Amino acid sequence: MNPFRRESDRLTPTGAESPTAVPAHHERLSVGSESDNAESLVKRESTSLRPAVRHLYLMGMSAIIASRSMQRVMEKVEKVARTDSTVLIGGESGVGKELIARAIHHYSPRRERPFVDLNCAAFPENLIESELFGYEKGAFSGADNVKLGMFETASGGTLFLDEIGELDTRMQPKLLRVLDGYPYYRLGGARKVQSTARVVTATNAGLEDAVRRGRFRSDLYHRLDAIQLHVPPLRERIEDIGPLCELFLQSTGCSLREDAVALLQDYSWPGNIRELRNVLNKAVVFAEGTELTPADLPADIRGKTAPTSGYSLERIEEQTILRALDQTGGHQQKAADILGISRRTLIRKLKTYGSVRTHGGASHSAGRGKSGPGVGL
Ligand SMILES: Nc1ncnc2c1ncn2[C@@H]1O[C@H](COP(=O)(O)OP(=O)(O)O)[C@@H](O)[C@H]1O
Ligand SMILES: [Mg+2]
Repeated sequence: MNPFRRESDRLTPTGAESPTAVPAHHERLSVGSESDNAESLVKRESTSLRPAVRHLYLMGMSAIIASRSMQRVMEKVEKVARTDSTVLIGGESGVGKELIARAIHHYSPRRERPFVDLNCAAFPENLIESELFGYEKGAFSGADNVKLGMFETASGGTLFLDEIGELDTRMQPKLLRVLDGYPYYRLGGARKVQSTARVVTATNAGLEDAVRRGRFRSDLYHRLDAIQLHVPPLRERIEDIGPLCELFLQSTGCSLREDAVALLQDYSWPGNIRELRNVLNKAVVFAEGTELTPADLPADIRGKTAPTSGYSLERIEEQTILRALDQTGGHQQKAADILGISRRTLIRKLKTYGSVRTHGGASHSAGRGKSGPGVGL
């Protein structure tokens, strides 16, 4: 599997993703004067108290910017984009760091050049060097052709290094040299290559901590730290939740009942927007009608707490069973059919979890282990 993607690999935007398809319960103020091939911007506002909801279209990805805190992040993005400075984007997993990296590229004068992304955690140590710097034909056995490194592929554009904290310690000084403007060699090469890529990085863990533990070089950290952008967790920007739900549901024909939205706004979202998207996807699959209600949401969200010890396989299984029972109004055979198991297995599993009860909507969350705040995924 190729753990990185280049822009050219991405799908061409489709009409379904177009911002004009955004559900219309906000009043439209103005329609994208900034529109062009790559982006359209729709500014809408339902009341004068609510900030305008921005729907951006960033290189094949839709982005909702509704909360004030995200609007402030975007203001910084637009300023930072004009510079060539290295940027470090921080924030929990699933908050939209990659999206922000794309926004930086999109608003920069480099936008017509490539955006190349590499997840430092996804590469074995021995491969990352050739991925970044490329190699010459014959550099090592198996090097049958010249291979451009990502710095070269992103030439004149943006190189996004995700999960930079995971970068192998032997690679860190090499990256620092390139960031400091020194040329490098392709593996096995004799010709100097000068990078013209702008480097944007992201981390979901405190890099300072990695520096203290000697896992990340402090000189590289300070080089990357030149400009930091922090993307807040979803629980701190609940104004984004409604518009995000509209975006994720727009092609499904489903909508959310108001009390379901309220539950989503109360939840702690340890997995942030990625988790919200998954919850809605699952709810749509299992829902019987087109209006999603609290019963269509996982027990953790209905109970307003997240599990205290991560998502164990058992717990996920239990929740899936309880959700299926919700969907079928407590009908065990129908729930077993949905899950592809026998009714006997379903009953046995419920007994194992201590979840035996007469089924009917809200009772499923009763007696469940719910305590403590959300945990990071
Ligand atoms: N502002 C946003 N509007 C719409 N979708 C978003 C937004 N931010 C993140 N997403 C979606 O949430 C998921 C996680 O975002 P991503 O940028 O990969 O997060 P991170 O890199 O912080 O883990 C992706 O599917 C992304 O498209
Ligand atoms: Mg990411």
